[in-house]
Amino acid sequence: TYVIAQPCVDVMDRACVEECPVDCIYEGGRSLYIHPDECVDCGACEPVCPVDAIFYEDDLPDEWLPYLTDNADFFTETLGGQDAPLGSPGGAAKVGATGSDAPLVASLPPQAS
Ligand code: F3S
Ligand code: F3S
Repeated sequence: TYVIAQPCVDVMDRACVEECPVDCIYEGGRSLYIHPDECVDCGACEPVCPVDAIFYEDDLPDEWLPYLTDNADFFTETLGGQDAPLGSPGGAAKVGATGSDAPLVASLPPQAS
């Protein structure tokens, strides 16, 4: 899977969303998250991010490795403001902005822009 790391937090440019052929990039409150089971590893999202937040999992810089788990947690955990985990909705457009964030992103102080 591809992973969205910390540079997206409080930036949320959303250019990646337009590129994804399977609509598997979901919007939280402060970041976007790639669904690890729905992503088909096409790589189209990675070059369009203006802050270089997107990496193939094997290419994640060490400092962003925790985002592999955090992207997955966005879908499997019951996050603040939710009654149940998001699961695998099969498309982000119909879900819209959830307003909830995975634990690591939620724990971060405001990121300088
Ligand atoms: Fe975030 Fe970059 Fe997409 S800032 S929303 S990962 S284009
Ligand atoms: Fe979509 Fe990027 Fe995966 S464009 S299919 S999230 S590699």
